[in-house]
Amino acid sequence: MIGMADAKPQISSGLEGVYIAESSICRVDGQAGGLYYRGYSIDSLCKNSDYEEVVHLLLHGRLPKAQELAETKKVLAESRNLPEGVVSTIKHMNGKAHPMDTVRTAVSMLSAYDPEVADSSNEANMRKSLRIISRTASIVATIGRIAAGGEYVAPDNSMSHSENFLYMLNGKKPTPQQLDIMRDMFIIHAEHSSNASTFGTMVAGSTLADIYSAVTAGIAVLKGPLHGGADEAALHMMNEIGDPDNTEVYITEALAGKKKIMGFGHRVYKAYDPRAKVIKTYLLQMQDSSSEEVKRLTGIALRAEKLMIDKLGQSHGIWPNVDFFAGPVYRAAGIPAEIFTPIFAASRTAGWCAHMMEYWENNRLFRPLEYYTGAIDLQYVPIDKR
Ligand code: ACO
Repeated sequence: MIGMADAKPQISSGLEGVYIAESSICRVDGQAGGLYYRGYSIDSLCKNSDYEEVVHLLLHGRLPKAQELAETKKVLAESRNLPEGVVSTIKHMNGKAHPMDTVRTAVSMLSAYDPEVADSSNEANMRKSLRIISRTASIVATIGRIAAGGEYVAPDNSMSHSENFLYMLNGKKPTPQQLDIMRDMFIIHAEHSSNASTFGTMVAGSTLADIYSAVTAGIAVLKGPLHGGADEAALHMMNEIGDPDNTEVYITEALAGKKKIMGFGHRVYKAYDPRAKVIKTYLLQMQDSSSEEVKRLTGIALRAEKLMIDKLGQSHGIWPNVDFFAGPVYRAAGIPAEIFTPIFAASRTAGWCAHMMEYWENNRLFRPLEYYTGAIDLQYVPIDKR
């Protein structure tokens, strides 16, 4: 007997069109292709700001005064060093797990080293947020460093967040171009309203689990290729295409076979993703790169972009998203594909923590419903009679 006692409700698949909260953190203008953190456009932040200032803006709701920014920078810098246990776990997982699994594990582990883990006051959550933001970047850099056969590089507190990240990853100071790329990548990935991973974070936090649990849930959700994992998947696709001249055949066949092209499309943006525009400016500078790999990837990316826009842009609202151009640009900065999504996670810790603290101000447990379509009142059958 099918137990459809109630009339079938309207189901919003994937929660499309459902508002879950009020928020003053981020505005995504899907029709015009705009993105604003606390009212400031992503373009103006990339032109004028740095990641530490964006962290302060997201967490506190306004741009800091000079003394406040100095304090935020100081706390972020002084929190960078990783506990020995976390470094040895990273070493233990190296080669056995995807770096996103290692980030998820290592960030979760950090709670064991935080004496304030059980203090749920807003002040403690603010302090824990800065520690999470700072140390997740160190975790990601260390994962990349150890995967490349290196040893843990102790942080340099005199460097900015972005510079220190590249220093811990590569064991040497970055070039000015690498630093510019990294700063912009950290800024554009810092926040994006109630996307899947932020929602995952909020669901965990809505049970009044602590902020480490909430951020760990966010990392788990970010991993998938329909969300943050698309940056790595898009690069793999470009490598599969192999040569810019193969792009048209590959894309045409993939679309004919109903395959999704990673790095295109978005639930909210029905216009060009403004974050992809920021990354594309780097790509355009890389067309004559001396690196064969970067030149090849750039050629493929630009051709694929044009083809996809011609085929699906205006007609279907499918445009490049933040993850499409990231691969070639990260490769130009010498960053391996496996840590693209972990870098996304390191940056997004700022948005996750900001959302969590905002939601806790008026917390209510998330508990949606399902329309049950299974059986009811079945007779229990003993195991030897089935
Ligand atoms: N390539 C080809 N077709 C696509 C693409 C794509 N990248 N994206 C959507 N479509 C098509 C779908 O096949 C579907 O077509 P149909 O109606 O003929 O079946 C239609 O557009 C709607 O697609 P959905 O997946 O239902 O749309 P949704 O709103 O859920 O899409 C999503 C959002 C998941 C991002 C989707 O565009 C996608 O899978 N893109 C590829 C993965 C990706 O790049 N993810 C990163 C997003 S940005 C971020 O999370 C940081």
